[in-house]
Amino acid sequence: MSAEPTDSKNPILTFIGNAFLFLVPVSLIVMLGIVGAAFIGGIGGNGKKPEAPAAAAAPAPAAPAATPGAPATVAAATTPAAPPAGGAPASAIDPAVMALGKASYATCAACHGPDGTGLKVGPALMAPSLVGSQLLLGDPSKPLLVVLKGIAKEDMKFMGMMAPLGAALDDQKLAAVLTYVRNEWGNSAPAVTVEQAASARAKYDPIAAPAGVKRAEIDQVVAAHK
Ligand code: HEC
Repeated sequence: MSAEPTDSKNPILTFIGNAFLFLVPVSLIVMLGIVGAAFIGGIGGNGKKPEAPAAAAAPAPAAPAATPGAPATVAAATTPAAPPAGGAPASAIDPAVMALGKASYATCAACHGPDGTGLKVGPALMAPSLVGSQLLLGDPSKPLLVVLKGIAKEDMKFMGMMAPLGAALDDQKLAAVLTYVRNEWGNSAPAVTVEQAASARAKYDPIAAPAGVKRAEIDQVVAAHK
C-alpha cells in the first residue's frame, strides 16, 4: 500500500530528475560556449557563435605550430649551405644549364663514368674521378684548358686518355658540361660562363699541343694566358 504512492510519484520525480539531468549538461555546454566565446574575444549571444570561434580557433594554433615550423627548419638547413660558397654558385645554377651539361656529359661518361668517379675496366680506371677534383673545382681556366687541349698521356695510370675535346663542344656546351660536373655528385663550384668558355677557346687555341698539355704544365700554361 505504501509502495503505490511512492511508485506513482516516482515517475514524476524521475521525469523532473531526467529533465534536470538533461538541462544541466545542456546549460553547461551553452555556458561553456559563452565563456569560450568571451575568452576568444567574440561575443557569444546564441549557442552557435561560440562553436564557430571555437572551431576556427582550434586549427589556427595548430597550423602555425606545424606549418611554419617545418619550412623554417628546411630553410635553415638549406640557406647556410649557399652563402659560404659565395652566394650564387650551387643553389643558383640555372636548371637549363645543368640539363644541357648533363646531356653534354655523354662526351665524358665513357671515361669518367656515369657517376663521375671514373669508369672501371676490371681493376683499372679509364679516367680519374671528377668528384672532389681540385683541378676541376678551382680556377675554371684549368678545366677549360684540359677539355679544350687535352692532357698528354705520359703513363698508364689510367686506361683512357684525356683527349682534346674542343671540337666536340661549342662554347655553350663546354660551359654547361663544366658547370654540370662542378655541381653534380656533391661537387660545388661557381658556374662556368659561356663568356669564360669563349675566352678560353680564343686564348688557348694557338697553343701547339695536339697530343695534349703536359699535366705538370697546366698551372704554368694557365698563368701564362691570364
Ligand atoms: C677518352 C677518355 C676521356 C674522355 C672522353 C674524357 N676524359 Fe677527362 N680525363 C681522362 C683521363 C685519362 C684523365 C687523366 C689524364 C692524366 O692525368 O693523365 C682525364 C682528366 C680529366 C680532368 C682532370 C681531373 C683531375 O683531377 O686530374 C678533368 C677535369 C676532365 N678530365 C674532364 C673531362 C670532361 C669534362 C670530359 C668531357 C667533356 C672529359 N674529361 C672527357 C679521360 C677522358
